[in-house]
Amino acid sequence: MAEPPPFPTVAAMEGHGAYNRMSRVQASGLAPALPLLERAAASALLPPAPEAIVIADYGASQGHNSLAPMAAAIGRLRQRVGRERAISVVHTDRPDNDFATLFQTLASDPDSYLPGDAAVFPSAVGRSFYEQILPPASVTLGWSSWAVQWLSRAPAAIPDQVQISFSRDPAARAAYAARAAEDWRTFLIQRSRELRPGGRLLVMTMALDEAGDMGYRPLVEAIYSALMDLVAEGFIQPDEAQRMAIPTVGRGREEFTAPFGADGRFCGLSIEQLELYQGEDRIWTEFERQRDARTYAASWAAFPRASVLPTLAADLDGGSADPRIPDFIARMVAGIETRMAAAPQRMRIPLAMMLIAKDGG
Ligand SMILES: C[S@@+](CC[C@H](N)C(=O)[O-])C[C@H]1O[C@@H](n2cnc3c(N)ncnc32)[C@H](O)[C@@H]1O
Repeated sequence: MAEPPPFPTVAAMEGHGAYNRMSRVQASGLAPALPLLERAAASALLPPAPEAIVIADYGASQGHNSLAPMAAAIGRLRQRVGRERAISVVHTDRPDNDFATLFQTLASDPDSYLPGDAAVFPSAVGRSFYEQILPPASVTLGWSSWAVQWLSRAPAAIPDQVQISFSRDPAARAAYAARAAEDWRTFLIQRSRELRPGGRLLVMTMALDEAGDMGYRPLVEAIYSALMDLVAEGFIQPDEAQRMAIPTVGRGREEFTAPFGADGRFCGLSIEQLELYQGEDRIWTEFERQRDARTYAASWAAFPRASVLPTLAADLDGGSADPRIPDFIARMVAGIETRMAAAPQRMRIPLAMMLIAKDGG
């Protein structure tokens, strides 16, 4: 059996289209950022014709939630350049992402931006966005939703939790804060290399609200206690649970603006607009209408199911080959659902959107 990694592992979203089917919360959370993306498409400096206009989608997963933003951006650009001009859309994600589903989604989803536009050319890159992914000064418009909260790696085990924002361990909190600050700088440095002069980047991500709260408390408590149950039942070992963590962070206004310094500039980038907002909890709204606790619980369990549980499962002793993975996921989902059904409540969903401009516009 492979030697387990010392710190929690980061894995891709669950494959076979599972993320596409289970990302309703993300779809409604990113919707308020679309008008800002259209504004970016309206103001970005374009390359001279006939050069293709490049849109980059950072952390695309299986593509479904990229369809609306890409359609909005392409629609606004078409108003500026007409129907003939080539637009290249580059969907990027980690190398282990389910890119086959992404291409199938582009080809057959009824909401795909492809039909009816013969001059749009989609492609994909499987490489971490903590590296330079695209050629220097090639990107006119960048978009990233629900992705930069994922750290490049988990910097430490979390002894008392699976999510750092609920941990009381000072050493783990400090290690996560340092990693989060470094990763945000790295992400910006790489994007500043890729953006054309006058290009725009829109980042939508998990955040801390003005009170420093990352939200999702009932859900994270349900995940942690479901995990502890699996230890108590002997299904997983205590040291496996100890290694498991969700390597995501919420950042507040201060963390987002930190690299930009007193003059508001960093590597040729500046923030044009930064907005913290609360995602709408449509699962709660539906519960208020239907009073169906089981549907409420199943809907909230779907949120971590395809995104977070594969990362926890990757820290089982057998890693990605561990035969307990399907059972682990099923038991975790059942445990989360039981807890969520017992006490339905509105979820806090702190989010941020920011429009970043590259010098030269
Ligand atoms: C929650 S999904 C978001 C998908 C989609 N953008 C949306 O809004 O629903 C997060 C995506 O970010 C990707 N991701 C996380 N860390 C990454 C990294 N270092 N480089 C590239 N992609 C990354 C994950 O693989 C995943 O597909």
